[in-house]
Amino acid sequence: MPDLVSLDVTDVRRRFSALDRGFAFFDGAGGTQTPDVVGDAIARSTREASANFGAPYATSHRAGATFEQAEAGAAAFLGCAPGEVTFGLNMTSLNFALSRTAGRTWAPGDELVVTALDHDANVAPWLELAHDLGLVVRVVPINPDTTLDLDGLRGVLSDRTRVVAFTAATNAVGTKTPIREISDLAHAAGALSWLDATHFAAHERIDVAALDVDVALCSTYKFCGPHLGLAYVREAVAAGWRPYKSRPSASTPTGRMLSTGTPPFEALAGLNATFGYLEEIGGLEAIERYERGLAEQFVATLPDGVTAYGLPGVEGRVPTFMVNVDGVPAATASRQLAERGYGVWSGDTWYSLGLYQSLGYEDGSLRVALSHYNTADEVTGLVAALAELGS
Ligand SMILES: Cc1ncc(COP(=O)(O)O)c(C=O)c1O
Repeated sequence: MPDLVSLDVTDVRRRFSALDRGFAFFDGAGGTQTPDVVGDAIARSTREASANFGAPYATSHRAGATFEQAEAGAAAFLGCAPGEVTFGLNMTSLNFALSRTAGRTWAPGDELVVTALDHDANVAPWLELAHDLGLVVRVVPINPDTTLDLDGLRGVLSDRTRVVAFTAATNAVGTKTPIREISDLAHAAGALSWLDATHFAAHERIDVAALDVDVALCSTYKFCGPHLGLAYVREAVAAGWRPYKSRPSASTPTGRMLSTGTPPFEALAGLNATFGYLEEIGGLEAIERYERGLAEQFVATLPDGVTAYGLPGVEGRVPTFMVNVDGVPAATASRQLAERGYGVWSGDTWYSLGLYQSLGYEDGSLRVALSHYNTADEVTGLVAALAELGS
């Protein structure tokens, strides 16, 4: 029996100045709070390691060490080799860049598969590529309960399919997908398995090797890190790519070949502190178990008069819920919750256009995004506040 580390939320919260102000944040899906060590590391980097690679003195050595530590930390986080990690401004820009690189050799009539569950950051890059190269886009539909329609996926795969781009979990309603099964289907069709792990990565451990995906992307500000994009590209896949790069820049390993320009050393210093923080509090395994308890509490105590969308319980999802308070427009509810000390966003599409069309709500919706730094008392207070709004 493995030694399961449980998360000590009091210990977690004392690490965040931002959580000491009497306001409960339920908006982690749009970006989490960051522990103080992350900001400290960023500030220290600007004081002590403000240099580029390759100079024969201490500041440059420190910048290089920061970069190497970030590659190693990100590799451990994703389950790949350090040389397969690349960094960028955010997930969206990395995805535009990598999809362009992957697609350079694709021919008119080749097919791309995207899903109706995905954030547009993993749809729009493929639509634009298809527009420019004359490719055909196939969309995998979703079932009424917001799970992905796997028969629909099987139905759109063909020997012209070049990529299956899909999400690990939706940022809007929290539904997860069977990643390994989808990867296997993609590979059986001879296509790349291209995973958006941006929402999932804050809640459960990703292991790109076990999941057998070719590309995985996420954004570190979703899991208590700085604003920074992070991607894994399988070395054997990238070996066949012609990268968009400045000619004198590195050609190996894969991750460095695919990055452009000078790395964001300050953000990487913050990321190193983020990985340290996650490790100290028990890692993603402890986070997943703790968040599940909060999610069970939320589901069990949701008051009458609140409509929840998507999967009804905690199975098959991460702890992100889309709800509406009957008779109260979402924007009004969000404002009133903020006045009571609860940070809950209202939105319309949540950038998930396929899901938005199929759920069919009109006046927007609220997204209650639980994070591992939330407490049971905060959930109790939020649920009571939701009940008052509806009464
Ligand atoms: C599931 C998902 N994918 C992609 C993105 C885009 O991430 P970024 O803002 O880092 O480009 C987001 C952002 O909210 C997201 O939630």
